[in-house]
Amino acid sequence: MSQKFDLIVIGAGPAGYVAAIRAAQLGLKTALVEANKSLGGTCLNVGCIPSKALLDSSEKYEASKHHFKDHGIEVGEVKLNLKKLLGRKDAVVKQLTDGIDMLMKKNKITVINGWATFSGSKEITVGKEKYTADNILIATGSTPVELPFAKFDGEVVVNSTDALAFNKVPKHMVVIGAGVIGLELGSVWRRLGAEVTLVDIADLPVSVMDKDLAKEAKKIFEKQGLSFMLGAKVEEVKTTKTAAEVTVSDAEGNKTSMKADKVLVAVGRRPNTDKLGLDKAGVKTDNRGFIQIDKHFKTSADGVYAVGDCVPGPMLAHKGEEEGIAAVEIMAGKSGHVNYDAISWVVYTEPELAGVGMSEAEAKEQGHEIKVGKFHYRANGRALAMDEADGFVKIIADKRTDKILGMHIIGKNASEMIIEGALAMEFSASSEDLARSVHAHPTLSEVTKEAAMAVDKRQIHG
Ligand code: NAI
Repeated sequence: MSQKFDLIVIGAGPAGYVAAIRAAQLGLKTALVEANKSLGGTCLNVGCIPSKALLDSSEKYEASKHHFKDHGIEVGEVKLNLKKLLGRKDAVVKQLTDGIDMLMKKNKITVINGWATFSGSKEITVGKEKYTADNILIATGSTPVELPFAKFDGEVVVNSTDALAFNKVPKHMVVIGAGVIGLELGSVWRRLGAEVTLVDIADLPVSVMDKDLAKEAKKIFEKQGLSFMLGAKVEEVKTTKTAAEVTVSDAEGNKTSMKADKVLVAVGRRPNTDKLGLDKAGVKTDNRGFIQIDKHFKTSADGVYAVGDCVPGPMLAHKGEEEGIAAVEIMAGKSGHVNYDAISWVVYTEPELAGVGMSEAEAKEQGHEIKVGKFHYRANGRALAMDEADGFVKIIADKRTDKILGMHIIGKNASEMIIEGALAMEFSASSEDLARSVHAHPTLSEVTKEAAMAVDKRQIHG
């Protein structure tokens, strides 16, 4: 006989495990199915968290080698202990994934270890066992896209998971795709001593972000030592056991070949929806494999919902978490909701890049007449005291109503500063609301206040 639950969640990444906890809070008898032994999905195991641990360690290494002396701090020879650095990252991951095990126990969620496939509309099979539920939530996440001419071998041609655990610093790493992963992991290995070349078919790194930011980011990252080949196409990747030759053609068709000991392919991710037996449940996907859902996260099958990277939208852990919570609240008869206009994104380079809402180009495309306020870190006292003068905050407001349509930041702590923009947009604030809010002095957040004042050209320090 199959075991019966109120809700089965498939996938224990941020979208799935958070949904499971919310469901338990709402009194639903909940099961969480996960194929991986360790809970937390891509984000905790091989994504957001380990990459941030490496970004932090490599930033400290670079600072101690090159920047401490600017502060009058003289250190002796600085040596890299890569094994220890990677070990610290693994310990951080373990602490967090163990924490999720604990949360599952605390919330009395049944964790089922194994691969779930649908065997009916409200029934799944894991190994030899069958489980049924009134509702099933699919939160199966995504996987790195593979290029047909550069198949992952785990040694030379690698994906973002492999690039978290190289046992030595590469001499030359070519990164195909100057997007979020390319910039973050490219920065890690450059700081640790690798030469890094990023190749992208687009004309700017992270081409979807506001062009002002992308141009500034390219300038700063080039100064740091990253090389870019943009508007360029990878023609061929020839590999041996230990090296590769990468041939790239530029916009004019001129070909260049370069040798590399690692080729990181970071050209996006695809939804994990192909091995779930979705047809058995009547769950439809679009032509790229994303599960089709309505405004309430309902799929084409009654009682089956989907959230996170496996449905359309930005592939961001926090977007998945909010969707997971909202979907479960809707199942429980509450009014769960996600405001897709105010989802911030961050690239954790140094300086960080962050945005929320529309870019300048998107605002214009959507027919808004706009006002733009921009203010630079270099005119901010705290930024200078911190020796972090690169970057700016840019605020885009509607010309007629003054409502904030978007905020974009390149600069120190952009990841924390962007939340002010997200909150302002959540409350439909105007740029004047932001400009008249008292910001503590001296803080980097004063750059945001001055950018809001600059929307009406009344900034004080610039
Ligand atoms: P991405 O979509 O950020 O960037 C992919 C890049 O590859 C684009 O610039 C694109 O123009 C380029 N590209 C595509 N095909 C190409 C080809 N054949 N040759 C050369 N360039 C090519 O994807 P990425 O970096 O792989 O990240 C995947 C997902 O993971 C993203 O959706 C991202 O949001 C998410 N992620 C988020 C992080 C964060 O929030 N900090 C960190 C890491 C990943």
